[in-house]
Order: sequence, then C-alpha cells, then structure tokens
Amino acid sequence: MANHLKRPLVQQLFLLTFVAAIVAVSAEPQLPYKIQQHSSSYPQPRDFPSEQLYHAYFAIQRFKNTITSDPKNVTSTWTGHDICATTSYLGFHCGAPHGQASNLTVTSVIFDGFGLCSPMQQDLVDELPDLAVFQASSNNFGGEVPILTGLSYLYMLDVHNKQGDQFEEAKSGTAATHLSQLCVGKNFCPGIRLRPILDPKHPAHGATSAKALLLNNNQLSAPLPANLGFSKVSYLALANNKLTGPIPPSVAHMQDSLVEMLLLNNQLSDCLPHELGMLTKTAVIDAGMNQLTGPIPSSFSCLSSVEQLNLGGNRLYGQVPDALCKLAGPAGRLTNLTLSGNYFTSVGPACSALIKDGVLDVKHNCIPGFANQRGPAECASFLSQPKTCPAASARVACPAADAKMNVAAPEGRVAKDYSSYVVYATLHE
Ligand SMILES: *[C@@H]1O[C@H](CO)[C@@H](O)[C@H](O)[C@H]1NC(C)=O
Ligand SMILES: *[C@@H]1O[C@H](CO)[C@@H](O)[C@H](O)[C@H]1NC(C)=O
Ligand SMILES: *[C@@H]1O[C@H](CO)[C@@H](O)[C@H](O)[C@H]1NC(C)=O
Repeated sequence: MANHLKRPLVQQLFLLTFVAAIVAVSAEPQLPYKIQQHSSSYPQPRDFPSEQLYHAYFAIQRFKNTITSDPKNVTSTWTGHDICATTSYLGFHCGAPHGQASNLTVTSVIFDGFGLCSPMQQDLVDELPDLAVFQASSNNFGGEVPILTGLSYLYMLDVHNKQGDQFEEAKSGTAATHLSQLCVGKNFCPGIRLRPILDPKHPAHGATSAKALLLNNNQLSAPLPANLGFSKVSYLALANNKLTGPIPPSVAHMQDSLVEMLLLNNQLSDCLPHELGMLTKTAVIDAGMNQLTGPIPSSFSCLSSVEQLNLGGNRLYGQVPDALCKLAGPAGRLTNLTLSGNYFTSVGPACSALIKDGVLDVKHNCIPGFANQRGPAECASFLSQPKTCPAASARVACPAADAKMNVAAPEGRVAKDYSSYVVYATLHE
C-alpha cells in the first residue's frame, strides 16, 4: 500500500459557512412514514425549531433502526428533539442559510470512526435534502455510494487553521488545497461553527458551492452509480472500498464542481473514460490500485488544474501521452504523475524529462530500455491479450477554458504535502 495510507490520522477541523440560498428546493422534505396520530408522545412539528428538523428527526430515527453495529454507542445520543445540540445526536451538524435563521437544518453528517454498520446510509442521505457534507470514513457501510443531489444552498468550506486561530477560506479550484485539517466528529471538534458571509451576492474570493462526500474505508461493494456525476460534489473520497465497474462517463458533469477525487484501492474496471479528461478544474484525481485498463485518453491533456494524478497499479497500456506530461510545464499544474505498475510501452520526450525530475513514476511497466520494468514474459503475456478499449485519438477538443481558473501556475511551484489535500487528509489507517 502507498505510504500515505499509513500516515497517522491528522486531527482535522472542518467548518462550513453558508453563503446564500441559490436554488429554491422544490422537493419538500419527505413526510414521515405512517404517523401514529393517536400517540400523544409522538413528536409534533412544534417540538422542533424548524420544519426541516422535524423531518430530519424521522429520517434519523429510521436510520437508527437499520444500524446493526454501534461499537461506540453513538446512537444512544440520538434521542430527544434537540438534533442540533452539541451533546446529543453526535455526528449531526446543523446550520441555516444566510438570512433564513428560522430554517435551521441538518447540513453535515460526520460519522468518522464511529464504526457504524448499516446497509441503509443511502436512505439517510436521500432524506436529508440540505446535506452538503457526508463524511463517514472507517465505518462498515456496505452497498452503494449515496449521492448528494440536493443543492439547496451555496456553501463555502472554511478550515480551522491548526497553527493559529484564523480561518482559511477554501475557494473552489486549487486554492482549496490549502485545507489542512478536516473535522472528524463533533466530539473532536467543539469548534464547529457557522460563519455567516454578509454579502451572499458576492461570496468572498470566488467561492462556489462546495459539497463533500467522504466515504473512505468502508465496505461499499456496488458499481459506482451511473449518475454519480450529477451529485456535483467538490470533494469525493471513496478510497479503500470494494467498488466495482467502470468510472461512469457522467463524471464529466462534475466539471464545474469537482476539486478532488479519490477512488484509490477499489476494484474499478473497464476502460479509462475519455470524460475524466473533462475535469478541467480538478486538482486531485487518484484512481490508483484498481483494474482499469486501456490507453490514457488524449483528453487527459485537458486536465489543466490537476496537481496529483495517480493511475498507478492498474492495467493501462500504450504510450504515455506527451501532452499529458506537458501539464507539468506552464500549461498546467501537475506536480506528481504516478503511472507505476501498469503496462505502458513508451513515453515521449516531455515525459522522459519528468521522469528525470522525479515528477513521473513509470516503474514496473513494460518500457524497453528503462530501469525497474516488468519482465519480458509478463509484458508479452499482457500485450498478447485482446484489447477492446478505444485507441487514443490524435486530436482532442478541451472544454472551454475558464479564464479565472487558468491563471498561470506559480513560478517554481513545489509539490504540496499530501495532507494539504482534503481527500488525502481524510484517509485513515
Ligand atoms: C449506551 O448508552 C446508553 C445511554 O448512555 C446506556 O444506557 C447504555 O448502557 C450504553 N450501552 C453500552 C453497550 O455501552
Ligand atoms: C424556510 O424554508 C421554507 C421552505 O423550504 C421557505 O418557504 C421559507 O421561506 C423559509 N423561511 C425563511 C425565513 O427564509
Ligand atoms: C506521488 O503520488 C503517489 C501516488 O499517490 C504517492 O505514493 C507519492 O508519495 C507521491 N509523491 C510525492 C513526491 O508526493
């Protein structure tokens, strides 16, 4: 396993700040199932600060009934009507959109390390329509990847700085990589609070909606949902699960939202999709340690914001596109391209230069004349198998560049520390 997976858990802090309501949610929160009208102790809307929390109460209680293992006895705090209190409902965090203080609602779920086991985490996510963060690393959730579909509010992620007491604003795009800490549960994070942004029409420094689905280290075993890309998340972390099937072409729809994506160490298969190359604002794409195959599509030369690109430990073959390696130059922001443990057979001049610089790792491939390659028999055996993925096309049309995002990369930039990326920082042992 890669070294960074074994890094001790950094204590992290995660602050959510609301900027503004941007879309009026048409979907009313679902009515609770089968209310027993005659029971006088049954919770009534007036027992809750908002209608949203009244509906959340039933969603949480239904979810609680599906939990089959709770080693830390967390769900014993999920009682009563005060969902937003610090001492009850551990794992649930509330907030209200700017200017709508009376609409307090559940905005983030952070179950990190609770060790909960339930096949139904998807239902919980579906029934909390204002959720912007679902972070449940190191639980035993099985089944499918839930999708954060609601985009009721515009959020901005703020991160508590370990060194001082300042807040760093996490802007969309690569600035978000300043994030160094991410909260791992209410019990570790007494500092979770909401910082209202006073001018919702002009969110500070180009902040955009930021949603996070962080589910590393679970037992998710289904194929990635075909509509994954419609969830418009900014941070997607699904490392160390048992996900199968292809990377869905719908990922292209996350083009304006996705900042970091971790698919490391699953059982994803099929051809590397052309659509991955459409993620022009994404700084981290890590699909290492899977069973992906095919050549690298030429669209990957459009990844002008990518800093960390890991496709190591797959079944990729062909030539490493030189246009991709050029993203380590002025055309892009690439600082680490890991392609080790595949079946590539050649690299061009720009890639050769990156290997010398230590930016590109092609160990354990099938490149003639290079050191540390697979044996000839192993290479011949792989290369003789039938190949069904589309050949990399010569020409590629990149999505229209967003001038704001494509400001020239800083001169003499250096590779950032792994823990400065949200998705890597959320990887636990
Ligand atoms: C869980 O917590 C509840 C309430 O604090 C307590 O009554 C119960 O004994 C606890 N159960 C275990 C297994 O610790
Ligand atoms: C609260 O939410 C409801 C429905 O989502 C909306 O109709 C209402 O205007 C909101 N209240 C405020 C104060 O914005
Ligand atoms: C580059 O990425 C690989 C795969 O994620 C990682 O193992 C390696 O440590 C990284 N190298 C640097 C210098 O950050």
